[in-house]
Amino acid sequence: MTETELHIFLLNNYQLFRALHIIAVIAWMAGLLYLPRLFVYHVDAGKEGAAMLQVMERRLLRFIMNPAMIAAWIFGLLMIWANTGLLSNGWMHVKLTAVVAMTVVHHIYGRWRKSFERGQNQKPAKFYKIWNEVPTVLMIIIVFMAVTEPF
Ligand code: HEM
Repeated sequence: MTETELHIFLLNNYQLFRALHIIAVIAWMAGLLYLPRLFVYHVDAGKEGAAMLQVMERRLLRFIMNPAMIAAWIFGLLMIWANTGLLSNGWMHVKLTAVVAMTVVHHIYGRWRKSFERGQNQKPAKFYKIWNEVPTVLMIIIVFMAVTEPF
């Protein structure tokens, strides 16, 4: 496939990538907003409850959040590849900065999940309630940038 053919392929499938991007983003956000909530319950859970929450947290991260994050990145980057001009927009700079922050939060949640799994969590439920709001704030910034393209 020549470079031109590849670029035509990317442009012809742009709307498909955008739809798949938004689907992946919805699944990723669902996990980022739910996992810290499970941590809140996990802090005060008894032995049986903790064992069940451990399974729920591991499955949520491995089978929903990780694939969804990877898919959001792949389809987002395919759209940038199809339209590199997007990178000269201020709103895309703000959006990608918030998206990188969201990806860091994802990895921080993964480390906390492991500390629960090892029975080493020291943090109170209130700590996870506060962190539950971080992806919400980032999501609001990202969606406003992506949809309104203000600058
Ligand atoms: C993971 C890395 C991400 C990359 C590389 C990326 C990149 C992009 C690109 C290039 C577009 C198309 C822009 C256009 O054609 O105008 C787009 C659309 C969009 N993105 Fe992302 N994005 C990412 C993550 C996210 C996240 C985390 C959210 C939400 C929390 C999000 C929400 C959206 C929305 C709602 C649109 C559609 C905007 C519209 O069609 O009006 N993106 N993204």
